[in-house]
This record gives sequence, structure tokens and C-alpha cells, in this order.
Amino acid sequence: MTEQVRWSPAGVDLDLPSSARIYDYLLGGGHNFAADRAVGEALAEVLPVRDMARLNRSYLRRVVLALVEAGVTQFLDLGSGIPTVGNVHEVAQDANPKCRVVYVDIEPVAVTHAELLLAANPDATVILADLRDPDAVVNAPETRLLLDFSRPVGLLAVGVLQFVPDADRPRDVLARYRDLLAPGSYLALSHFTPDRMPREMAAGADIFQHTAEPITPRTRAEVLALVDGFDLVEPGLVFTPEWRPESPDDVPADPGRANLYAVVGRKP
Ligand SMILES: C[S@@+](CC[C@H](N)C(=O)[O-])C[C@H]1O[C@@H](n2cnc3c(N)ncnc32)[C@H](O)[C@@H]1O
Repeated sequence: MTEQVRWSPAGVDLDLPSSARIYDYLLGGGHNFAADRAVGEALAEVLPVRDMARLNRSYLRRVVLALVEAGVTQFLDLGSGIPTVGNVHEVAQDANPKCRVVYVDIEPVAVTHAELLLAANPDATVILADLRDPDAVVNAPETRLLLDFSRPVGLLAVGVLQFVPDADRPRDVLARYRDLLAPGSYLALSHFTPDRMPREMAAGADIFQHTAEPITPRTRAEVLALVDGFDLVEPGLVFTPEWRPESPDDVPADPGRANLYAVVGRKP
């Protein structure tokens, strides 16, 4: 039976699982449908997806704090997801109230909830857009209103680029963003990889075939190629919990089970 909910925007296909809502479910959120939960449970049978989601979200928090500490006050968050604990504007504006954030997502539930959350925040906004069109994202009036592209921007592509297949040329997409950013800008990303658990990741990718966004997990070399033209900052490309952990408790015994690489580069 199809669920009836008041919080979903019109036109959303409740029966087609989306990565935004699957991720929300895995993080314990309430903005997901039966079809999303079924995929979440199927994924949990083959991969440690709840830990992967939690570790990815912790990396997002640490990387935003690190960029604020490095002097970044403007963020463009590609594939920002359904708002949950520790949203980028909360983390950034807690650290420096001058921070401005533009969220970008292709999923209407994510965008509708972000709009509600941000209604009273003049320094953060959200746009419904496809990250594969960098010029449209950067030149959207809402983006231009908040972000000054003559100054450094923190470009976030956390947990999203595996949803961009090779046919859509993710390297070229990121190269275009790089060209649009001022020197001193940063690109921070995390990305599914088959390197550590190849069979399990292949099974996960099969499950994602039945969703709105099939995945393309990428090897270490392929993820490194995405940050071409940026100077890698310490500690380079690592698994998400290994990216500047705040305490030994942040790093599980086997960090590779995070199954997502994390890397940050600075535009020279
Ligand atoms: C797994 S969530 C990651 C959320 C958040 N960045 C994080 O790491 O906590 C991936 C998000 O990317 C969005 N997404 C996927 N493809 C996209 C595209 N082409 N353009 C914009 N957003 C996209 C999905 O809708 C989803 O909300």
C-alpha cells in the first residue's frame, strides 16, 4: 500500500527508491518511504551501510570544521541530502557565524526539507539542481546572492559522486567547477570504493540498480583523478574515518570497512 504523508512534495515517485531517502533511513531519519527502507535493509545484508553512512557524516562535520579553520567562509554543498543532525550550515556557522552556505540537491524531498529548515537563515539557501551542470549551479541567482566566486569557496561533494556514471564525465564536471572557483578554494569529497570489499560492493551496486540512482564505485586511482588540478591537503586520500580523526575512538579497528574514500584538495 502506498504511504500517505503530508511532508512529501507533489510529484515524488514514492515507489522509486532514492539515495537521499535511503541515506536518511540508514542515519535513523524519518523522511523515507517503504521502498527506500526496503533498499536500505537489502544493502545492510551485504555491506555495513549504517556504519558507512555514520562515518561519512562524521567526516563531513570534520572537513567543514577544517575548512572553516583554514579560513573558508563560503560553502557550495553538492548533493547535500535530506537535512539531519550536523548540517553543513550548522557546523560552519557555529564555528564562524559569517559562513554562508548554498545547498544543491536533485531530490525534491531533500530540497523541500532544507527550504523549511533554512527559511529563517539569511546566510544559507538550497537550490534544486543537477550538480552535473556546474554553470547552472554556480550562476543560479540564489547561489550568486550568497557566494562571491572571486573569493575562496569550499566545494563539497560528499557521498555523491558515485551517483555520477562515467558516461556523465565526472572528471570534466569537477574540472569545470575548479575553473569557476577562485585560487585558495577547496574541493572536499568522499566516494564509494570497491577496493576493500569488492564482492560486497558489487552486490551493493546490484541493489542500487533498482533505485533512481545506480552507483559507480571507484578505485583509489579513479577517485584521485577526480581531484586533478587541486593540491591534496594532509592526510591525502584515506578512508573516511582516517581523515583527521579527532580522537582514536573515531577510527574503527578496520577503517577500510567504511568503504568510502575521503580526499580534500586546494586550488593553487
Ligand atoms: C548519500 S547522500 C549524501 C548527503 C550528504 N552530502 C552527506 O554526505 O551527508 C547523496 C545525495 O546526492 C544527491 N544527488 C545525487 N545525484 C545528484 C545530482 N546529479 N545532482 C545533485 N544532487 C544529487 C541525492 O539526491 C542525495 O541527496
